[in-house]
Amino acid sequence: MWNRCTIERMRKRAGARVRTPRAPARRARTADLKTVVTGLRGEVRFNEPLSEWTSFRIGGPADVLVLPADVNDVALLVRQARAARVRIFVIGGTNLLVRDGGIRGIVLSLAKMTAIEDEGNSVLYAEGGAGMPTLIKYAITRSLSGLEWSAGIPGTVAGCAVMNAGTRLGEMKDVLKAVRMVDPTGRILDVPASSIRFGYRRTLMPRGVVVGVWLQLQPGVRSTIESVVKDYLRYRRETQPLALPNAGCVFKNPKPETAGHLVESVGLKGAQVGDAQVSEKHANFIINRGHAQAADVLTLIRRIGQTVQQRTGITLELELRIVGEG
Ligand code: EPU
Repeated sequence: MWNRCTIERMRKRAGARVRTPRAPARRARTADLKTVVTGLRGEVRFNEPLSEWTSFRIGGPADVLVLPADVNDVALLVRQARAARVRIFVIGGTNLLVRDGGIRGIVLSLAKMTAIEDEGNSVLYAEGGAGMPTLIKYAITRSLSGLEWSAGIPGTVAGCAVMNAGTRLGEMKDVLKAVRMVDPTGRILDVPASSIRFGYRRTLMPRGVVVGVWLQLQPGVRSTIESVVKDYLRYRRETQPLALPNAGCVFKNPKPETAGHLVESVGLKGAQVGDAQVSEKHANFIINRGHAQAADVLTLIRRIGQTVQQRTGITLELELRIVGEG
């Protein structure tokens, strides 16, 4: 049965993997939060509306949003948060619904860590905050093939690695060579892909913050790579509502079915709660028509889940990650 508990269970399952260990579920004091961000060289913003940082343009405030300058900044933050027993939530911002009450404690965004380097032998190293679109463009300038499947995915490379992002053409696991992480004690470690377990839009890897990613690509022909990417982007523009704020696909495809087809087949294309609407273009997208609240989106998700369950017997699983307080 689709109710608040189902969503809560899924939220926990899909939820923030990176959390300071043994962090208590209490509200951190402002003094503690200030201690945790002392000495960071990156940017620190207090009471920052997360609607500014999510592709959905929805979400209440973070007590503190930290944009670290580099890996050492992340390590310092993790150590200080652990000492003060304050939680850290890592957000990429695209596959995400932040509830209207926002997120307590520290929210970490890698938005300032976006460097990409060519390490030779068709290997790229990208800092975790690098966007997939930028990464594809970079690969094209180097005539490197292997990322074409990701054309149109708006997320960060770290976010895509952690959730094994993918499309019909491929997925992150096909190209991931290793990740650089900051573990919960603040140590920096490199984890080879062979130590990571990949599932459908999920991975099992050591706990910590993924701060960088090595990708093993192959030499290709620039014009061929470019034309595959262009065709794929056109397909996505034609079939997906990319012009309005959204968070990508809401549900995983319950193979062999697709969520979009199921939602359309039960007549919910266009269904609306407040300013949240099931897209007329692709029924596995919810769009924000202006001022949608997280509560509207959650009501819509519940309605979709219940209707699909009743009419088809299929339980849809969320792909969207839901975080924060109601
Ligand atoms: N369909 C419908 N109605 C709809 C939408 C789709 O009947 O409203 C049908 C289509 O006609 C088609 C089938 O569903 O027969 C599949 O549709 P589509 O090609 O759009 O692909 P998808 O399975 O719905 C997946 C990924 C997308 C990715 C596209 C394109 C998942 C959950 N979704 O969508 O990823 O962009 O393929 O490769 O794996 C995302 O991860 O956020 C995401 C949107």
